[in-house]
Amino acid sequence: MADVAAKPIIELQHVTKIYPNGTVGLKDIDLNINHGEFVVIVGLSGAGKSTLLRAINRLHDISKGNILIDGESITEARGKSLRNIRRDIGMIFQSFNLVKRASVLRNVLTGRVAYYPAYKTTFNLFSKEDKQRAYEALQRVDMAEKVYNRADELSGGQQQRVSIARVLSQAPKIILADEPVASLDPQTTHKVMTDLKKINQELGMTVIVNLHSVELAKEFGTRIIGIRAGEVVFDGPVSETSDAQIAEIYAGQVEES
Ligand SMILES: Nc1ncnc2c1ncn2[C@@H]1O[C@H](COP(=O)(O)OP(=O)(O)O)[C@@H](O)[C@H]1O
Ligand SMILES: [Mg+2]
Repeated sequence: MADVAAKPIIELQHVTKIYPNGTVGLKDIDLNINHGEFVVIVGLSGAGKSTLLRAINRLHDISKGNILIDGESITEARGKSLRNIRRDIGMIFQSFNLVKRASVLRNVLTGRVAYYPAYKTTFNLFSKEDKQRAYEALQRVDMAEKVYNRADELSGGQQQRVSIARVLSQAPKIILADEPVASLDPQTTHKVMTDLKKINQELGMTVIVNLHSVELAKEFGTRIIGIRAGEVVFDGPVSETSDAQIAEIYAGQVEES
């Protein structure tokens, strides 16, 4: 059983992403992420952090290599098996991506959509269990009292917590968060990062967060991966990472500018 437990939840094998205009987003990346890790990805703007997350849940296709999710290739998956793998991966965006004119409850329920055949969600036939699950997800991020508010009545931090609840109701194995706190004030930032950390620790979901802030990376991450120009230039436990090493991730910029 030990070898089964040790299987990484995400494996990137020689992953290269070249955009149609020729820009190299990712260069031959080899990376394993294990079940239950809280990984923080840091690097300059344009380094390839978003490209990496979008490759993992196949929001876009990669040009070379292979990505395995819990042992299954998402790169090669088609149709139903692709949908099933995607269901295991929740995504959180900097801009929240809520349906602004819909209620908080309805937004969180959309996390369940992947579990229904298309005709059912068209007619809004969410089950009682799903509504209960959505409510519990909102409780977990302290947003239950806003369940009937419209999303656009909430502050940015509250909207991000609703988007976390939406991901929770999806019940994924992996949460990918692309600069989830970039547009939030420091206090709200702390709340959102703490929610993600709690979800990681209490529910065992693997979390990967792209962050601009090294301070946040050190405070919340257990592992730091540094990306520069589409390549992994650093990978290590936060506890053993020095400030000089982090500065090195950002190196190269000074000469260029
Ligand atoms: N759709 C796209 N088409 C062409 N180039 C892109 C596209 N998206 C991102 N890039 C380029 O890929 C590189 C990595 O971008 P990105 O992953 O967004 O970086 P980060 O998230 O670290 O700021 C950058 O040079 C960026 O300009
Ligand atoms: Mg980005």
